[in-house]
Amino acid sequence: MNTNQHTDKKEIILTGDRATGPLHLGHYVGSLKQRVALQNSHEQTILVADMQGLTDNAHDPKKVSSNILNVVADYLAVGIDPTKTTICLQSQLPALAELTMYYSNLVSISRLERNPTVKSEIQSKGFERSIPAGFLTYPISQAADITAFNASLVPVGDDQLPMLEQTNEIVRKINSLARRHILNECRPLLSKASRLPSTDGKNKMSKSMGNAINLGATEKEISAAVKSMYTDPNHIRVEDAGNVEGNVVFTYLDAFHPDESYISELKDHYQRGGLGDGTTKKILETCLQEMLKPIREKRSELLNDKAQLLDILAKGSQISREKTAQVLSDVKDVFGLNIF
Ligand code: TRP
Repeated sequence: MNTNQHTDKKEIILTGDRATGPLHLGHYVGSLKQRVALQNSHEQTILVADMQGLTDNAHDPKKVSSNILNVVADYLAVGIDPTKTTICLQSQLPALAELTMYYSNLVSISRLERNPTVKSEIQSKGFERSIPAGFLTYPISQAADITAFNASLVPVGDDQLPMLEQTNEIVRKINSLARRHILNECRPLLSKASRLPSTDGKNKMSKSMGNAINLGATEKEISAAVKSMYTDPNHIRVEDAGNVEGNVVFTYLDAFHPDESYISELKDHYQRGGLGDGTTKKILETCLQEMLKPIREKRSELLNDKAQLLDILAKGSQISREKTAQVLSDVKDVFGLNIF
């Protein structure tokens, strides 16, 4: 049971992103926008997950280390305010690694192998039989991230639901071993557009697949991405009736265009025939260019002052070390290991 739910105590939010590349529009609609709104009403921590990033990139650690500040700049550029939200670096919080070790004893290998997100990542990354142990067990480390802050709300995309399920299984095991309530169960906060398709319409938008529009994308990149977007392959001539289902241009217009009734008229027109893909793409491009310009500018300004970004991350990590000490001590207590 979530003990915060029926009290007026500020609910704790913990969320994070792997530092394996700059963040993109999928992150923006999936969770960044919500985090910006929630920072006013909740106690929010965002974790730059560098250790989780290494679970499948240990052969290329620079891919992770070189993206840490990009991710911090992405947060600040979309409006996350470090005076309201604590931004911390996973590898700077030893309590997370310690909790991971304790929790590892409560989770079977077969349970990890059944996690659908991990399963599909193993396939898409082509690990076959040589899965790094750290990769297979990252859901345990993610449970450590969430529970160390005793978070009850996690704004994430829907691919992360299996991680929250595994987190809650661990929470129940710890509480039952302790015979008292130590850890809160968590629940996801999904946005209504929780999964943005890639521009080719084949997958979800992904840092690793090269089919994403990054928050720092240049004007040219935005324009090229919109021009190449998947629409309705049967909508050949302008006067043909077109399909808006699965048409990536309309999915993006739904996610990003502020005027819903205009988009609904546009859909009617497209379905009746007489509206070309060139026109719908132009409308989308204008909308994305306007939205991303201030983000891109803020982001590049921030990246010009790396010392300031490092300072934000160092201060947030210090605060987080203090916040996570209690749960680590409680969990060690469950195992009878607070012996000094
Ligand atoms: N798994 C998340 C991702 O793929 C990153 C992450 C790490 C996370 N720890 C977390 C998300 C804790 C939510 C809560 O980007």
